[in-house]
Amino acid sequence: CGIVAYVGGREAFPLILKGLKRLEYRGYDSSGVALIEDEKLKVYKKKGKVSDLEAELAGKAPKGTIGIGHTRWATHGEPNDVNAHPHYSNNRKLSIIHNGIIENYAAIKQNLVGKGHVFLSDTDTEVLIHFIEDIQQATGGPLESAVKLALKEVVGAYAIVVMSEELPNQLIAARKGSPLVIGVGESEFFFASDATPIIEYTKDVVYLDDYEVAVVKDGKLSIQNLDNTETIPYIQTLEMELEAIEKGGYDHFMIKEIFEQSKSIGDSMRGRLNAEAGHLQLGGLNQYLDRLVAAERIVIVGCGTSWHAGLVAEYLFEELARINVEVEYASEFRYRNPVIGKNDIVIAISQSGETADTLAAIELAKSKGATIFGVCNVVGSSIARATDAGAYTHAGPEIGVASTKAFTAQVTVLTLIAIATAKRKGTISEETYIQLLNELENIPEKVEQVFENAQKIKEIAFIFTYARNFIYLGRGLNFPVALEGALKLKEISYIHAEGYPAAEMKHGPIALIDEDMPVVFLATKDSSYEKIVSNIQEVKARKGRVIAIVTEGDSLIPPMVDFVIEVPKTHEILTPLVSVIPLQLLSYYIAVMRGRNVDQPRNLAKSVTVE
Ligand code: G6P
Repeated sequence: CGIVAYVGGREAFPLILKGLKRLEYRGYDSSGVALIEDEKLKVYKKKGKVSDLEAELAGKAPKGTIGIGHTRWATHGEPNDVNAHPHYSNNRKLSIIHNGIIENYAAIKQNLVGKGHVFLSDTDTEVLIHFIEDIQQATGGPLESAVKLALKEVVGAYAIVVMSEELPNQLIAARKGSPLVIGVGESEFFFASDATPIIEYTKDVVYLDDYEVAVVKDGKLSIQNLDNTETIPYIQTLEMELEAIEKGGYDHFMIKEIFEQSKSIGDSMRGRLNAEAGHLQLGGLNQYLDRLVAAERIVIVGCGTSWHAGLVAEYLFEELARINVEVEYASEFRYRNPVIGKNDIVIAISQSGETADTLAAIELAKSKGATIFGVCNVVGSSIARATDAGAYTHAGPEIGVASTKAFTAQVTVLTLIAIATAKRKGTISEETYIQLLNELENIPEKVEQVFENAQKIKEIAFIFTYARNFIYLGRGLNFPVALEGALKLKEISYIHAEGYPAAEMKHGPIALIDEDMPVVFLATKDSSYEKIVSNIQEVKARKGRVIAIVTEGDSLIPPMVDFVIEVPKTHEILTPLVSVIPLQLLSYYIAVMRGRNVDQPRNLAKSVTVE
């Protein structure tokens, strides 16, 4: 989501609108602006793009020199006018914009409803502003104290800006886990989720740290932490250009999204998993978990990278929950006369939630009485709405056409569903359950460790920039990863690549191997390790050039192969989440070195709504 706020001497509305447009790359399903107009708090919001809000207000631009604005990427509640930010307090004197997720909002809401609060939206954000209001009324202290007290109670991530009708020269902002930057001008201040909306007015900015609260009051900025300790604002001067800021300083959205994965994997588990408490819950699937437990068969449908996530899930559901799984290309499934009925569960996987073939497969399965679950990234998308229940991936907007962080978020969420099913069904021991939850919590850190190899991967990429073919081989859970690695390379570098089950190689692809053929082996230490070592030898015997993805500390494989990339050890079931990362990086660097348009490769579209 995107945040923009302003207080100073200019007209706030056009400035905020322009800022929101600059932030639209962060996701746009609805937007809104609140201003203090003639001493009254006014809120304007609209489903759709910022231009829809602009069109609605054409010719009647709200007036005022203080305001807050937001462009939303839905996490709770479908995208519509009501769920759009800003949100009001109960007395309609306070308003808020928020990025992030308040995990314990349901409990807070229940308490406030008991006190007579009336909520208009389904959002966690509205709960937060009501909570702040409630504290302010109970304590009678200044608004900033109420904000701090409320934030001490909330669990989750946030960047917020709060504005009060009664304080027309004041804005209060805070952050934890979600970025917020303050632009410092001459008697004017700008707040935004990144510097893009600010940079044309000032290059002097302060980046807020976690647990800090910034107050602009009567033209002065002060920063305190939640315990009221004052810090001196550290003003830095930005040297980046606009485009670089949008991409977070990276050259392309794709690499930004690759490096975001430690965070996005964490976000996809946020509020759902707590290993210490042995807790795992997916709100959207609660009522349906028993059906999964009773299911004789799960049919997974998807396209492209989402289909690969489905192949990973096949192993997970079979291994952990002992349920028979079939994974289908949505486009093939829908044009057959598939045998499917009311005892089947269909899981549709889609980043965009708009892929035409996947949607049609859902409709077909529905017409035959199957129960449909969705695993989508875009909240309120067509597929999310067409399913009976589901779990969002919460990876945030993915801009690069080649899917990266959406894939790992899909795999994470499918893993959570498989573990929850297995636990309820009693097909895994308590010990394995706890071990898996703990390992899942460690995944973001392990993904971070893989990034430390980026330079090495870049060097390997340089050597293979001019390759004309590539083979990717893996077994078990690493087989779908091999497919995904090959797809990434094809998509963005236009090098022909094939993913294959390593053992199948001898039935055909082995004929392709000579001294010019790069072969990427997924050779992590798991139950098929010895077998994969033999497959590596088969390739080396034919002079193929081997790049092996191995588990940290492996001493057997490195002397056999040309290049190794290490990944940290994790539970075998979770291997794809770490082993796919070097493959994403390898394709990215090769494509960049070949001068390709990485974010928008030729002939491809991010969302394929044709059949
Ligand atoms: C397109 C994209 C792929 C994506 C596939 C499925 O081909 O380029 O990256 O994997 O569609 O999209 P979905 O949004 O349904 O996951």
